[in-house]
Amino acid sequence: AERNLILAFETSCDETSVAVIEDGTKILSNIVATQIDSHQRFGGVVPEVASRHHIEWITRCIDQALAEAGVDYPDLMAVAVTYGPGLVGSLLVGVTAAKVVAWAHHLPLIPVNHMAGHLYAARFVGEFKYPQMALLVSGGHTELVYMPKEHEYEIVGETRDDAAGEAYDKIGRVLGVNYPAGKTIDEWAAQGQDTFHFPRAMEKEDNLDFSFSGLKSAFINTVHNADQRGEELNKYDLAASFQQSVVDVLAEKTMRALDQYPVKQLILAGGVAANHGLRDRLDHDMAKYHSNVTMLQAPLKLCGDNAAMIGAAAAVDYRHGDRAAWDLNAVPGLMF
Ligand code: KG4
Ligand code: ZN
Repeated sequence: AERNLILAFETSCDETSVAVIEDGTKILSNIVATQIDSHQRFGGVVPEVASRHHIEWITRCIDQALAEAGVDYPDLMAVAVTYGPGLVGSLLVGVTAAKVVAWAHHLPLIPVNHMAGHLYAARFVGEFKYPQMALLVSGGHTELVYMPKEHEYEIVGETRDDAAGEAYDKIGRVLGVNYPAGKTIDEWAAQGQDTFHFPRAMEKEDNLDFSFSGLKSAFINTVHNADQRGEELNKYDLAASFQQSVVDVLAEKTMRALDQYPVKQLILAGGVAANHGLRDRLDHDMAKYHSNVTMLQAPLKLCGDNAAMIGAAAAVDYRHGDRAAWDLNAVPGLMF
């Protein structure tokens, strides 16, 4: 192919997404079919329901991604697909569809790590500079990733229990907020005050790890105890208090990581990177403590799962020679 065009697939969880990316950073199309409505009545993602939705939507997403980009199969340079981490049944739909397209059109297949994909969402706002550090916060992961150079990832800190997004979704359920709760809790937090002072787990500990299950339990106990007394707590203050605790810990550990690893740039990405409290806090802390380190925050629209970010990561993987064999399998617990 003459053009550097990648057809990218993302089906690791509950979004069916196909994108066409040119030269690694130009989004020609990014189709995202969300299944949230189907999972809401269950209060979370039901794996079996998710796989079926992916099967139902994937071909339409491919057709639409190509049509919107104004390209056809012969124009493509490669096909890319998320093969982990994620739900095995969901991943398999994307992996199978990508294999079929790559095989039928004699295109190389690039296997992409979902978390590397999240990280590359930030590539749409600026160039990467190495060494760099990334704070990746999503529904399934919360980690600090050190990148000494392009295509090299080292996890230097991670959650020991719940991911940050998972904690948002669980406390959201207690407040009667539909899954996924992060966005609503973020909005409520902006209207409240930190009056509850929930714990900040491991904040002062000399490591780069996180823990959110204690905060989640403290939150749930506070709401249940009030319920038993027949007392209704202010939901805005509850949200603000929860968010302040999450943001304090994420920001403190990120600043500590930057103290320990001298880097040129910080990346913020993942579903929870859409959080306004977190974005503002990092803006503030970076200006105050690491004004010589630049920061790229993934664009709001690309924080959640999407195939454009997978295509951006794939463009780099491709240059480094990553190619999948035809027996590529889904790897639900894939790590960097
Ligand atoms: O990255 P993502 O789309 O899926 C995973 O790979 O996990 O992240 C989804 C998570 C959900 O837990 C959702 O509640 C959370 O991101 N989220 C937010 C916000 N928007 C989405 N959490 C906090 N504040 C937000 N504004
Ligand atoms: Zn994700």
